[in-house]
Amino acid sequence: MRSVATTQAFVRPFPAPRWKPQRVTVLRRRLELLGKILRPTPHVPLAVEGMQLFAKLEYTNPVGSIKDRPAYWILKRAAERGEISDETTVIESSSGNFACALAAYTHLVGLNFIPVIDPNISSTYESFLRRLCPRVVKVEERDDTGGFLKTRLEMVKHLCSTIPDAFWTDQYGNPDAVEAHYLLTGGEICAEFDSLDYVFIGVSTGGTIAGVSRRLKEQYPNVQIIAVDSQGSVIFGDAPRKRHIPGIGSSIVPPLLSLALIDDVVLIPERETVDACRELLMTHGLLVGGSSGSAYAAVKRYAARLRKAERPKVLLICADGGTPYLDTVFDPEWVTKLK
Ligand SMILES: Cc1ncc(COP(=O)(O)O)c(C=O)c1O
Repeated sequence: MRSVATTQAFVRPFPAPRWKPQRVTVLRRRLELLGKILRPTPHVPLAVEGMQLFAKLEYTNPVGSIKDRPAYWILKRAAERGEISDETTVIESSSGNFACALAAYTHLVGLNFIPVIDPNISSTYESFLRRLCPRVVKVEERDDTGGFLKTRLEMVKHLCSTIPDAFWTDQYGNPDAVEAHYLLTGGEICAEFDSLDYVFIGVSTGGTIAGVSRRLKEQYPNVQIIAVDSQGSVIFGDAPRKRHIPGIGSSIVPPLLSLALIDDVVLIPERETVDACRELLMTHGLLVGGSSGSAYAAVKRYAARLRKAERPKVLLICADGGTPYLDTVFDPEWVTKLK
C-alpha cells in the first residue's frame, strides 16, 4: 500500500495560515475525536448470475452517506492548515448529503454552518438541516441548464463575500475531497478485496470517483472504473435537461473530475434509475437512493459484457440509503412526472 505522501499531489498549496493557536488546537483536537466515529463500511454480496457482485453500503456512515468522508476530511485538513478556527462560518452548496454531513460535523466541533440548498432536496434532508442549522438558504431560480447548481454557487459567493471568517468547503473543486476518498473509501476497498475487475460509481462532484479510482488502479492495475451519470447531466457531455433525482449528475463539469481515472461512462435515464432502486429493494433487500440505483442499472446494462469474463468480481457503491426518497423515487405517483 502506498503512503499518504502519494496523495500530496491532490493537496492545495499551503495558504499563509491565519493562526489562532489556542483555538485552532482545540478545534483540531475535536476533529481528531470526531474521526473516531467514522468506521469502515460493510460490503454485501448480491446474487446476480454470471458475476460476483458486491455492494458497498456507504449509507452505514454515521450521518448516512458517502459524503460523511469528504465532510470530515475537508474540515480536518482545513483545521490542520489553520484555514478555519472556532469563529469560522462554513458555507456550502449541496443538494443534500454533503450538507447533512457538514451540518452534523460542524455542529459536533462547534462551528457555524450555512447550507445553500435548492427545491430538489428531499424533505427529510431539509428538515434535518433546519433542525441543526440556525440559517438555511434555499435558492428558487433555475440556472441556464435547467438545474439549480449555478444559482447555488452564486449564492455561496455572495455569502462568502458578506460574512466575516467564512470558509467555503467547495465540494466541487476541493482536492481534500479526493484525498478523503483515496485514503478512506479507496483504502478500505483495497483492504477488503484481494482482486476487483469492475467498479461502478455514481458521479456528481467527481470526488468519489477521482479518489477511489486513483487508489484502486494502484492496487488492481486492470480494474475497470465505470462512471455512472444521469441522462441530462452535463458531466460527460450529455445535453442539459431538467433532472429530478438528487445525488447524481450535475449542471457543471466538476473540476475534480479531471483527477479521475475512468474507463467507461454509462448514462442512465431517471426512469431506469427508479426501476433499479425498486429491484434492489425487492430482489436484494437494499433500500438505497438514486445514485445507487443508477449504478445498479449500469451493472445490468453491462451484464452481457461482464458475463463474457470468468465470473468477474464487480463492486457497486451504494452512496446513500433510500428512506429520504420514499416520497419520490419510491412513490409511483411521483414517478409519473419523469419522462
Ligand atoms: C447519494 C449520492 N451519491 C453519489 C454522489 C456522488 O458523489 P461525488 O459527489 O463524490 O461524485 C453524491 C454526491 O452528492 C450523493 O449524494
